[in-house]
Amino acid sequence: MRSLIGPDGPVALAEGVHWIGALDPDLRSFDVIVRTANGTSYNAYAVRGSGGVAIIDTVKAEFAGAFFARLEAVARYDEIRFIVLNHLEPDHTGALPELLRRAPQAQVLLSPRGLPLLRALLRDDFGRYDIRPVTTGETASLGDCALEFFTTPYVHWPDTQCTWFARQRILFTCDLFGSHFCDARLFNDEAGDFRLAFEHYFDRIMRPFRSFVTEALDLLEPLDFALIAPSHGPILRTNPRDYLQRTRALAKARLGAGPEKALLVIYVSAYGATAGLAQAIHDGAEQEPGVRAALFDLEGAEIAPLLDLIEAADGIALGSPTINGDAVRRIWDLMAALAEIELRGKLGAAFGSYGWSGEAVRMIETRLQGLKLRLPEPGLRVRLHPSAEELAEGQDFGRRLAAHLCGRAPARVLDAPEAAAG
Ligand code: FEO
Repeated sequence: MRSLIGPDGPVALAEGVHWIGALDPDLRSFDVIVRTANGTSYNAYAVRGSGGVAIIDTVKAEFAGAFFARLEAVARYDEIRFIVLNHLEPDHTGALPELLRRAPQAQVLLSPRGLPLLRALLRDDFGRYDIRPVTTGETASLGDCALEFFTTPYVHWPDTQCTWFARQRILFTCDLFGSHFCDARLFNDEAGDFRLAFEHYFDRIMRPFRSFVTEALDLLEPLDFALIAPSHGPILRTNPRDYLQRTRALAKARLGAGPEKALLVIYVSAYGATAGLAQAIHDGAEQEPGVRAALFDLEGAEIAPLLDLIEAADGIALGSPTINGDAVRRIWDLMAALAEIELRGKLGAAFGSYGWSGEAVRMIETRLQGLKLRLPEPGLRVRLHPSAEELAEGQDFGRRLAAHLCGRAPARVLDAPEAAAG
């Protein structure tokens, strides 16, 4: 077993293929938003054929020294024929400008959507290098072997792609199948138990793009891979297909949706007024055939499991009273967490009781629009406790939302929130 401090040099994955990445055991937060209790690694690889060497991804800039030392142990810079960029986030391209200075003859291979990022990264040097966009099915010859590319957008950014090395049946997937789990033993059959890290990584990095993940899995699954080489965490050489299947399961909706459209009415209430409105909206939605509504008081709910429900639902109506000119904290916490799940195509709506100014409903609408939900109805606001007429209006609001869910109401999407009423 290798030292826990880390391998000093490159590590062979197969004949002609080496790990030349870097370990970052002290990282505790990735991209600001992902907690990384186990640190992470920036895996980069060198692939050698009779016609030269390909470097697949690089490392975060601070770790360039370790990357170049490992690279120099397996190849000379003038042997580098290709630099493959599976993804251009800085944790994989930090060492790229210097690598290009050392190997200016190398052709850079990336997805077409990576081009604007590469231009921004290299700035005035962009025009100096041989840059070739590649898409699914295109190859790059290393003489007696070749790399093949698969365009897999949004695993994690729009630019992402995967690279297949058929000779050794290795699939280089960058963020896909990664884990933020730094273990110097490098391989999944030697590293510590990283199941939590693997699933946490999926939840925080891939989950908002799970339909794209499924498309990528469909594209990659037919490949007869013996090893998956991601750019974070353990290299998957034992039972690699298990990780594909686990990722496929994670990418599925967490709860089976029934034949009816699901509307979740979620609220916080200070004095029961917003709660009354929520009940009316729920009851109104229930009257519409083909819709199943559910009511949640956020005061008594954990946010994480609620995200599973929201992801599986067709629409959400969020209610908050206005307190100190704002929506209440629990609603903001929920709306912040909504960025972690896929919301495309879902219906959104806002409602709430207020005393003086009533900004909360507009604020919720603005946030839901920012998350790309469609808002077919202007939010419903009621001063203090709803009257019988206002409860009836709430029921009608719920009925209209349900009708929109079933495609029975005229589309009237709000493009931009109006200024808050006083
Ligand atoms: Fe590991 Fe999306 O960067």
